Parts: sequence; C-alpha cells; structure tokens
Amino acid sequence: MATPSHFNISWMIVGLVLVLLGAGAPRAGARAFFVFGDSLVDSGNNNYLATTARADAPPYGIDYPTRRPTGRFSNGLNIPDIISAQIGQPQPPLAYLSPELNGQKLLVGANFASAGIGILNDTGIQFLNIIRMFRQLDYFDNYQRRVSALIGAQKTGQLVNQALVLITVGGNDFVNNYYLVPFSARSRQFQLPDYVKYLISEYRKLLMRLYKLGARRVLVTGTGPMGCVPAELAMRSTNGGCSAELQRAAALYNPQLVQMLREVNSKIGTAVFIGANTQQMHMDFISNPQAYGFTTSKVACCGQGPNNGLGLCTVLSNLCRNREQYAFWDPFHPSEKANKIIVQQIMTGSTKYMNPMNLSSIIALDSMV
Ligand SMILES: *[C@@H]1O[C@H](CO)[C@@H](O)[C@H](O)[C@H]1NC(C)=O
Ligand SMILES: *[C@@H]1O[C@H](CO)[C@@H](O)[C@H](O)[C@H]1NC(C)=O
Repeated sequence: MATPSHFNISWMIVGLVLVLLGAGAPRAGARAFFVFGDSLVDSGNNNYLATTARADAPPYGIDYPTRRPTGRFSNGLNIPDIISAQIGQPQPPLAYLSPELNGQKLLVGANFASAGIGILNDTGIQFLNIIRMFRQLDYFDNYQRRVSALIGAQKTGQLVNQALVLITVGGNDFVNNYYLVPFSARSRQFQLPDYVKYLISEYRKLLMRLYKLGARRVLVTGTGPMGCVPAELAMRSTNGGCSAELQRAAALYNPQLVQMLREVNSKIGTAVFIGANTQQMHMDFISNPQAYGFTTSKVACCGQGPNNGLGLCTVLSNLCRNREQYAFWDPFHPSEKANKIIVQQIMTGSTKYMNPMNLSSIIALDSMV
C-alpha cells in the first residue's frame, strides 16, 4: 500500500489526468473496479466466445435498464453492477472482451469473469471456450499494459492498488465438475474433504497471483448454498429440501476458504482479502423468503420442470410475472432483487457476513489515508 501522503497525491494525479483526458472520464474519487470469476459476476464476456454458457437471449435482461439481454445471468442487474454503483462509479466496468472497452473506459476498471469457469482448469470443460481463471489473470496483466500506454506505468500501478476487486469462483468446481456426472474423474480421484483441500490450495495460488498483479482490496465470496438452488432441488432433492451432498460440500468449503484468507492476510500483514459469507446471505432469504418480500425461494422465475429447475432459461420457458417475488431468476442464479439484498449485506453486514469487515468500513478506511 502507498503511504498516506502518497495516496492523496496519487489520487490528485489520477484526478488531474482524468480531467486532462476530458469527457467520458470517471469522476475523480470513484476507484476502479475489477471483477473475476464465473456466471454470478460475468457481465457479458461469454457473448464473445464460442460457448454454450451464455445469457445473450431473452428473457435474460428483461428488467435491465435497456430491457435487453447483455450476457448477465440475471433478469436485471448483477452483483458487480450493484457494487459498482455503491462505490460511486457512474458506469459499471465493461466486459474485458467488449470492443467498447477502450480509452477512458479502461480507467473505470474491467470485468474479466466468464460463465462456467472454476478454480480448476478442468471445471466447465463441457462449455468449451471460456476464460479460465489463469487466463482471466493473464488478461488483467494485459489490461495493465494497455492502461500504462495511456497514463504511464506508475499511475497504472496506483490505479490498480487503489481499486476494489471482486472474485466469485468455486461453485462450478462442484456442480460443473465433481458432481457433474456420477463417478466424475475428480470424484474418483478425491474424497470430498480432500477435493475441498485441493480446491483451497489452488485458489490460494490464484489469489497470490492477483496480489502480485497489484490487487490490494479483494472481496472474495464463498459458494452459495449450492444444494438449495432450484436446479439441485429439481435434480437431487429427495424430500423437497436442499441436496444434502452439495450442502455438505458448501459446509466444508466455506470455512476453509475463510481460514485460508486469514492466513494469506496475516502473511501479507494487512487485510487484502475480505471474505463475503454468501452462504449465510443466501440462507437468510432461502429459509425465510417472506421476510425479504419473496413468495418463493424454491422455484425459479424462468425455467421448466419441477421448481422451474431443469434445463436453461429460454424464450420457451415458463416466466414469472413479478420478478421481485422470486429469489432465483433461473435454475442457478439469484434475481436482481436477491442480488441487491446480497450487496446490502456486503456493504453493511456484521462480521457474521463480512470477514474481517464490510465494504462500508473498507471505503471509510481507504478514504482516510
Ligand atoms: C491451468 O492451466 C494453466 C495453463 O496451462 C497452467 O499454467 C495452470 O497451472 C493450470 N492450473 C491448474 C490448477 O492446473
Ligand atoms: C460494518 O461493519 C462494522 C464492523 O463490524 C460495524 O460496526 C458497522 O455497523 C457495519 N455497518 C456499517 C454501515 O458500517
């Protein structure tokens, strides 16, 4: 981290550069925002790839400001959109593969996430051409080179150091790998507890690379309650409740993730990595949907079959009328309304939700220096 006086001066420099660069610049004070991970945070990268993991057709985007599909796996805004607004960005960062991500727009940040990916390279192989984690980090390196050409290496380093980063990955390593088919290669190779340990050790390497690339404030989400999503209720539930096996996986994985983040932070000597307990955030409205204004957390708004949980959400699917009443938009992904509830907890949640602190505290801390 820069020393306090450097930090102020660097912001003034960034501000001045933005003013000099003219129209379209983000307003000074809004830090850059970088996003890595899977479909929960993909804002359209997969639209540019030859993959089946995409959300570029109606009714995706039905409640987005343009009412059109964008590649977000949501009826409207996704979690990065809502965090971006909360940190004062006028526009959320564009998908890294978007041809519109040029010039000034680069200074807002970038979204490298790609639906279908996991911590492991062999996760989501059925989706063919997607941006696996190591490649997302390669792109982050390329991004910094492109920004350096605009504002110089030193200011680029400051922009990255002062940025907020979000990473959401891990769920697919279970649902689109270990549990994808009975007797999957990974499930033959590993007992579940050993697989979880392996995932955590590989995730740690990815986070250390992110740190080496300059990230200094990173929100790291755990997996949601994977066994409770409409897809798993439809495919695996025996008694109408959450799938016990996937819930066991989440219960093993999430605490070990928090522990790993704690170790990495203490090795670095400061709270770079902030754990977001998305499992708890989801469980709140899954166990008591009415308290959050939902009529159901078991049936997806868009889908078919039991719980609207089978197959994909397409123009031929059942579509609910009032998306605000559904915790899940499609068989795997929360609705915009649920995303807003999750981000609210990220912003102001107690240490039960945010470890070691919530985003409001981070913003306050980072603006003091
Ligand atoms: C994924 O593939 C990349 C490139 O081949 C490699 O550098 C990396 O170590 C692989 N990651 C894992 C977890 O095997
Ligand atoms: C954020 O977390 C801190 C520390 O846990 C807590 O005191 C505070 O009430 C939370 N909410 C806000 C808005 O800061």
